Amino acid sequence: MVPDLSVRASEARELMDAPDASAPMLDRTYERFALVNAVVSPWRGLYRRDIRPRARRGPVRLLDIGAGGGDQARALARRLHRDGFSAQVWALDADERAVRWAQAHDATGEVRYRTGSLQELAEAGEFFDVVYSNHVLHHVADAALLPFLEESRRLLAPGGVVVHHDIVRSRGAYALFAAATWPFRTTVLAGSYIREDGLTSIRRSYTVAELKARVPADWEVRARMPARVEARAEAPGARA
Ligand SMILES: C[S@@+](CC[C@H](N)C(=O)[O-])C[C@H]1O[C@@H](n2cnc3c(N)ncnc32)[C@H](O)[C@@H]1O
Repeated sequence: MVPDLSVRASEARELMDAPDASAPMLDRTYERFALVNAVVSPWRGLYRRDIRPRARRGPVRLLDIGAGGGDQARALARRLHRDGFSAQVWALDADERAVRWAQAHDATGEVRYRTGSLQELAEAGEFFDVVYSNHVLHHVADAALLPFLEESRRLLAPGGVVVHHDIVRSRGAYALFAAATWPFRTTVLAGSYIREDGLTSIRRSYTVAELKARVPADWEVRARMPARVEARAEAPGARA
């Protein structure tokens, strides 16, 4: 049954965010993110549209915010490497459990993992050509959303782009995710928080109109398939 989705369930909490979340369940969740991302996440399009054109102009620095298990950061690092580009890929997560897991499961050695905040990166003088997040906006507390967006943009080098991707809250998205994950709940998704937290995530997520109303005026917000939203902003200027 689809719950009432007319209002954001901003008080709902994902189980993976709890400080006392089960360690084996968390590990399994970080591992299984790769499976979910292979199906729904847009890192290949991001690579073609935003990363590769910048990489063609010279060495690029990428930041994946809320990288979770780090699978997208690793995939992007591998793709850049395969295409012969010089790049630094950073994976940041506020949760040190995620960073520990991602670091321990990185066979590429091509990603720099960090626990911390965007503010700390800015204070350390770090800048990036592409700043990216996936499935993170709905994790951010309501009052922290605007600072989160502004801080992510503050990390851009001249000519850089920040792109935040997320699911949208809709009956279709909820019903589709519930139906698609049901057959796998006792097999590939067993022992993880993917199904339960995924459904909570959709309840916590923004509609496209809600997100449009929350971002600074010069950000662009677009609906993306399937049942997704993208918020983006570009930094003026060109790379030296
Ligand atoms: C649903 S997971 C998504 C992980 C990954 N991006 C993916 O697509 O598989 C959300 C992640 O964002 C992290 N997170 C939430 N708020 C954050 C913030 N303000 N800064 C950095 N990471 C954050 C959480 O700790 C969690 O690992």
